[in-house]
Amino acid sequence: MPKKINVFLSAEQIQKRVAELAAVISRDFAGHPLHCVGILKGSFIFMSDLVRNLTVDVTCDFLTLSSYGTLTQTSGVVKLVTDLTTPIGGKDVLIIEDIVDSGLTLKYLLDNLSTRNPRSLKLCALLDKPEGRRVQVPVDYTGFIVPNKFLIGYGLDDAEFSRNLPYIAAVDPE
Ligand code: IMP
Ligand code: MG
Repeated sequence: MPKKINVFLSAEQIQKRVAELAAVISRDFAGHPLHCVGILKGSFIFMSDLVRNLTVDVTCDFLTLSSYGTLTQTSGVVKLVTDLTTPIGGKDVLIIEDIVDSGLTLKYLLDNLSTRNPRSLKLCALLDKPEGRRVQVPVDYTGFIVPNKFLIGYGLDDAEFSRNLPYIAAVDPE
């Protein structure tokens, strides 16, 4: 039987908020090229919409992180699976993430990337689940604060499926 889902954020709500975030980021970085770093795989849809709304000059790169654990709970052990293709030294870097839960993924990444001497290093997450936090991370740009539920769609997966949904939904526990 298919899992029961409840639409939590509609495609229209997401698009409106992404445009608002892009306007704030464009204002903050006006006159400076922005190097956007997407964390794969979850951020690819959010990032593609965000960068199309930015009015500053943009370059893009990606890295892949994995954290081990059960399907819905991170173990806290983060692994860099594929690294960036270009150095970030001297650049204004914006890390783009789908969702911050425990914070362990972003803590690992901030510690790693800050050793590479970027000019600045900021964090943008579409979703923030503050109830799941185990380590504090400074999220500079947040799309939506969300409750401690398992969410799918708009890049977020359930065992790799459902990333392509244009909306974000909560999965009912079975
Ligand atoms: P953190 O290290 O616990 O902050 O985990 C962040 C990562 O866990 C995100 O990049 C997602 O890939 C994944 N994640 C956390 N919550 C959800 C969720 O509700 N749905 C799908 N993936 C999630
Ligand atoms: Mg992710």
